[in-house]
Amino acid sequence: MITLILIALIASILYSLLIFRPKNFPPGPPCLPLVGTLPFVPSKNVHFTMVKKWINDYGPVVGLMFGSHPAVAVIGAKQVMEVLRRDEFQGRPYTFNAKHRSFNKRLGFFFTDGPFWQEQRRFTLRHLRDLGFGKKSLEGIIVDEAEVLFKKLLNVEIQRNGFFGLSSINVLWAVLGGVRHSQNDTEFTTLLQKITKLFRTGNPSGDIIDIIPFLRHLFPDVAGYKDRMIGTVCSQNYFRKSIREHMKTLDENAPRDFIDLYLTEMKQNDGTNNSSYTEDGLIMILLDLFSAGAESVANSLDYALLYMILNPHIQKKVQEELDTVVGRSRRPTLDDKPRLPYVEATISEALRINPIAPLTPNHRVLKDTKLDGYEIPKETMVIINIWSVLSDPGHWGDPEVFRPDRFLDCNGKFVKDEWLVNFGSGKRYCIGESLAKNVLFIFFASFFQEFSITIPEGDPSPTTMPQPGFTTAPHPFRMKLKQRM
Ligand code: HEM
Repeated sequence: MITLILIALIASILYSLLIFRPKNFPPGPPCLPLVGTLPFVPSKNVHFTMVKKWINDYGPVVGLMFGSHPAVAVIGAKQVMEVLRRDEFQGRPYTFNAKHRSFNKRLGFFFTDGPFWQEQRRFTLRHLRDLGFGKKSLEGIIVDEAEVLFKKLLNVEIQRNGFFGLSSINVLWAVLGGVRHSQNDTEFTTLLQKITKLFRTGNPSGDIIDIIPFLRHLFPDVAGYKDRMIGTVCSQNYFRKSIREHMKTLDENAPRDFIDLYLTEMKQNDGTNNSSYTEDGLIMILLDLFSAGAESVANSLDYALLYMILNPHIQKKVQEELDTVVGRSRRPTLDDKPRLPYVEATISEALRINPIAPLTPNHRVLKDTKLDGYEIPKETMVIINIWSVLSDPGHWGDPEVFRPDRFLDCNGKFVKDEWLVNFGSGKRYCIGESLAKNVLFIFFASFFQEFSITIPEGDPSPTTMPQPGFTTAPHPFRMKLKQRM
């Protein structure tokens, strides 16, 4: 009798660990008890596996189970564009990692949706626009930052990539917190290094901590958990300190930056029930903007430099255009952009061939729906493969080749391509797109006006294979700088 009871107990425990795919769910990798399909999802550069294997094995919509939680990977232009634009796919998952990084509340942009997200996003976009995001008024700061960086670079002939980080975050932080840090500010550069580590250790499609959170107590390093928490807590402390300093000198009638504008809104809503403007909320907005801004622009510039040392003839054409249109006596400006089509085409090609965000941050399905004939239940997590659009041979012809000319018409004019979806599309499109594009343009154009770069003698040709993480980055490489002016 006891044996029978034991068998029944064990059987019921095993049954509870089994994971069942929802009905008419898309096909996908095998599903194991407790962990679901997680063991079959590569923890590194999964965007490649999706395009090179999954789409052939399962089709453009792949069904996954993270533990008992359903998820779909969306691969291929038609399906990617569809989920980026359909309203019911615009939620964000609220995973353990997400909860843990934001004081156990839903704050910021990357893990919120619904009315809270709408209000905070509208407020942020409006004020960042007023403060000069994407406008010419920020141009002076961008040019100054480039100048400071170039002076530093002139001292050392052989450089390792990664030198744009502080300069690009300084442009962003000038708008958000009103401060620009010196190139020798070790406290701030240490914070940036921690944020970089945070980005390198994450996996955009989720990790084991989301499924079995207590694992972090047994193995604090599992899936990069420890480094992520260190980066998060250090940044939160930095933002809180900065906010408290702003509070002391706040003049509501003369806001200096985004923090002042948010604090003013907080004061005006003080006492209002359920106001969505709080100090913790501001910290998480700053963390999202700062971390998105810290990595993205600097790593995109690094990719552009990488392809320039690998393609010296393209670097030469960029410089010839700069010399003809701008000359050497002044820096390129945003007004020059329409007359620098080859420069713009080269930046676009660098964004396309090795995007820093090959997958968007995960989305969440807000109501039961259908995709490609499959049932997609409410709460399903959606992993969107932007790289599958950027590398589609049907559209680009030779996507693996670095060829800026694909963005030029027969008269050499720059032509926008709707398939260049690096910044997303629809309601979730990137908040920093216009700032990022302006910083990329001025830094890239000024850099190649000032310098030529080559692979140092004796160094192997650097790889274009990306380093994995929440976003991607090139592997470290060295370059030899030669001043041109
Ligand atoms: C080369 C530079 C950049 C690229 C390629 C890029 C790309 C993206 C992508 C693909 C998304 C996700 C869209 C989606 O989930 O559907 C996104 C969202 C976002 N980006 Fe960027 N980004 C860049 C720079 C920036 C900068 C400089 C900032 C900060 C000012 C920023 C802030 C954000 C924020 C806050 C979101 C979340 C929007 C939301 O969920 O409502 N990004 N970005």
